[in-house]
Amino acid sequence: MTMADNTKKDEIDTSAAAAFEKFLVPTIFGPWSQAMVDHAGTQKDHRLLDVGCGSGAAARYAAKTVGKQGVVSAIDLNEGMIAYAKSTDMEGAIDWRLGSVTDLPYDDGSFDIVVGNQLLQFLPEKESGLSEMKRVLSSGGRLALNVYCPPHRNPAHAAVGSALEKRGVDAKGVLHPFSYGDPVVLGDILQDVGFRDVSVVRKQMDSYFTSAENFVDCLAAGGPSSRLALEKLDEKGLDDLKAEVSETLAEFMDTEKGLRVITAANMALATV
Ligand SMILES: C[S@@+](CC[C@H](N)C(=O)[O-])C[C@H]1O[C@@H](n2cnc3c(N)ncnc32)[C@H](O)[C@@H]1O
Repeated sequence: MTMADNTKKDEIDTSAAAAFEKFLVPTIFGPWSQAMVDHAGTQKDHRLLDVGCGSGAAARYAAKTVGKQGVVSAIDLNEGMIAYAKSTDMEGAIDWRLGSVTDLPYDDGSFDIVVGNQLLQFLPEKESGLSEMKRVLSSGGRLALNVYCPPHRNPAHAAVGSALEKRGVDAKGVLHPFSYGDPVVLGDILQDVGFRDVSVVRKQMDSYFTSAENFVDCLAAGGPSSRLALEKLDEKGLDDLKAEVSETLAEFMDTEKGLRVITAANMALATV
């Protein structure tokens, strides 16, 4: 079961969600979520929806921007993610919902902004998810989505994926997040669904992990889908894989900062 096949809701329990939040949100998903909320032009008093919110990085950041008069709602298909996200929101500032983006539990025109960091590639029915996002936006409302570029633009993840494949392990859990990386395809689907003023820009970020071994450990502990691929290896297999990844990524190792993990994503912006 991987996020690529997301028909089962309970694949991420709260401890996996907590590991995602601990190891991958501060390094990768948090900075991307913040960039997306800013790219959407989020302002004070806005009503914002975070789709595929995971542990809630974008929603929590947006809540600070929209302030007390604004509204933030966040929805995810996964019970463990939503339960964990709720537990981080002691003030109850955010309206957390369990559900699918293909059937959003909101009235038409409920939001000024809809954001989704690394969600679209996991939707088997992309058009219906996007149509729902459009339906809940008010006239003039904006959609911002981040979707990873292909593996060759994300060399650290690509190295883990190819090391898994070399060992005969299905690497979909690691590589599928990078499977919808064509900016033209992304722009076209948004326009076809009826969004206006569509733009797609590529952005790159650097994150640092103490070593390649540490990067693989973080993916194995907290990667929503990559941990499911990595757990197929026994301890020795995982050690061998780490050694290979370390060698492949030697050029990205900085003696002071650690392993430079480059992530590149297409940032789409569109209007209703
Ligand atoms: C890679 S995670 C990103 C989480 C979060 N946006 C972040 O950046 O930290 C993708 C999330 O999309 C959720 N997801 C996948 N399909 C979904 C659907 N149909 N409706 C709502 N959420 C979905 C998954 O449960 C997962 O939490």
